[in-house]
Amino acid sequence: MAYKHERFETNVIILAVGILVTIAIGGLVQIIPLFTLETTIERVQGMRPYTPLELMGRNIYIREGCYVCHSQMIRTFRDEVERYGHYSIAAESMYDHPFQWGSKRTGPDLARVGGRYSNEWHVAHMVDPRSVVPESIMPSYPFLNRPLRYDNIERHLRTQRTVGVPYSDEMVQNARADLEAQARPDADGAGLMQRYPRTTQAAFDGNPERITEMDALIAYMQMLGTLVRFSDVTPEQLRQ
Ligand code: HEC
Repeated sequence: MAYKHERFETNVIILAVGILVTIAIGGLVQIIPLFTLETTIERVQGMRPYTPLELMGRNIYIREGCYVCHSQMIRTFRDEVERYGHYSIAAESMYDHPFQWGSKRTGPDLARVGGRYSNEWHVAHMVDPRSVVPESIMPSYPFLNRPLRYDNIERHLRTQRTVGVPYSDEMVQNARADLEAQARPDADGAGLMQRYPRTTQAAFDGNPERITEMDALIAYMQMLGTLVRFSDVTPEQLRQ
């Protein structure tokens, strides 16, 4: 027995193969069970794909590099939870492709910014952050008052579907109507609400006549962190 072990200790190739086999067993024990699961994320009540308008707002968020200064990931530390609200859970970013957790906070975390400020505040803040927060070092984005381009909105939804977001054919077909209905408070929003529960309809930029990039970005901001009600979440779902 002692002699057999000596072969591993004196031959580097046999030793390397031995190490690989041992690590592979450990790896397989962890990886194989994942193939039997449909998803490793516990679903929670309330999560839904982004509405077409929110999705376009999210695209603008990515285009403008907001993630460079803002995270969307509240960690499980007491100081973070007291400042930002309940810590983030995996299901809250399950429809985020790519996810927006971020890695640097020059500004505050935005994971639960939805509903914290009025739409008017957001417009003023995006046009000139210093007008509402005098000491702010955030750049101004006044040009977001330009019209939103959404003639290709169906393709945005289909692309998200390719990477696993469950947009139905009905959602894709109604994407344009849903986008317009959300930005116009007087429009009939029954279909929109039925397809995307907990959606807010508003003239986010203050003008119901035009649909601007500002509308889309603020619709997205106002929805962040508002879908999951933590009173509905079970302790098992939190232990992820
Ligand atoms: C250069 C860094 C930087 C960039 C880029 C940036 N921000 Fe900010 N942001 C800040 C800072 C700093 C604050 C805190 C001061 C303030 O409220 O203006 C802030 C605050 C905010 C707030 C208020 C959050 C709160 O809880 O009070 C929102 C909303 C926000 N930013 C959205 C955005 C969006 C949307 C973009 C992209 C269009 C963006 N920011 C880009 C630095 C940045």
